[in-house]
Amino acid sequence: MTSSPAATGSQLASRFGLSDRVFVGPRARRLAETLETGLEAVEAAIAAELGSADPLVDAMSRYLYEAGGKRVRPMLVLLTAELGDGMTDAVRDAAVALELMHIGSLYHDDVMDGADRRRGVPAAHKVWDNSTAILAGDLLLARASRVMGRHGADAVDLQSETFERLVMGQLHETVGPAEGDDPIDFYIQVLADKTGSLIAAAAQAGAHFSGATRDHREALKVYGEKVGVAFQLADDVIDLSASPGDTGKVPGTDLRAGVVTMPYLLLQASTDPRDRDLTRRIDEGVERIREGADPAILDAELAELRDHAVTARTHELAMSWTNEAVDALSDLPRGTVREALTRFARQLADRSS
Ligand code: IPE
Ligand code: IPE
Ligand code: MG
Ligand code: MG
Repeated sequence: MTSSPAATGSQLASRFGLSDRVFVGPRARRLAETLETGLEAVEAAIAAELGSADPLVDAMSRYLYEAGGKRVRPMLVLLTAELGDGMTDAVRDAAVALELMHIGSLYHDDVMDGADRRRGVPAAHKVWDNSTAILAGDLLLARASRVMGRHGADAVDLQSETFERLVMGQLHETVGPAEGDDPIDFYIQVLADKTGSLIAAAAQAGAHFSGATRDHREALKVYGEKVGVAFQLADDVIDLSASPGDTGKVPGTDLRAGVVTMPYLLLQASTDPRDRDLTRRIDEGVERIREGADPAILDAELAELRDHAVTARTHELAMSWTNEAVDALSDLPRGTVREALTRFARQLADRSS
């Protein structure tokens, strides 16, 4: 992936397949150009916010930003801002702050998940160490607060409520379901909290800070949250199937680390003896990896799960959450923005990286 400060808007767009699949037709192409210009301003502002006089702090805090990333959340802020007056200082800053919050949470997430790679480079805790990676994530969160704080109580509320939900999602994922909780319902709630919250905040922020009507805000919140669930379900499929060149991550990271995903939960719920056997082999492999065995011992099981009906079912679930997200837009005015939001949601659930 190209390094972000050098990335132009058009590079950002092509990175995400936006040109061809989200913005179809001449009016939509004009919208795409507006968003590309906006994304360039967001990129420049993120680079400026991440600066530090201390060279180590500077390198650590820029590390994952410069490694790449799809910029899904800034894109969504800029897109929903087109329902109102378009790009304002507050719209730009909300896009900056939400991407900083996202990147900060990735530093932390890779420590928690024991992930080796992120955005095509070694995870921050592999370059430095766990403590440093946690502190670098904290620093980005502090910078995100500084940016949001410029825009009053509403901005601070949106940021703090979103971050609290993200943390609750990560926490519930870590501690797992309580006795009596349905594991699949519990998991969907985790996804809505850890990922849906931030994507919903992005969708709302654009509308809010561009002066779009409150009705739009509520619909966009529902849309963003459902898109977030679909996005994570797609991520579960990608974890099993994508090549590292596409994702910048190591395939099967979650499975090998014993991080629960939808394909695994569907497998675990099956009464078919072959599925029970595969579940048992995965659990045993995870246990042995925890005790120090080579993570490659689960390669065969990873391939079996990738080709299993539960993974196809997870993809179908991602599509069905996407359909619900699109339904939430039914009260928005028909036009290029609604059309782009619809295509954007479908593209996110059907992506390969
Ligand atoms: C990764 O998010 C974390 C999840 C919520 C799945 P993205 O897939 O948006 O990651 P980047 O920003 O493109 O690296
Ligand atoms: C990341 O979730 C979500 C947050 C950082 C809040 P995952 O752990 O499922 O995402 P990846 O696969 O590492 O990107
Ligand atoms: Mg992770
Ligand atoms: Mg995680």
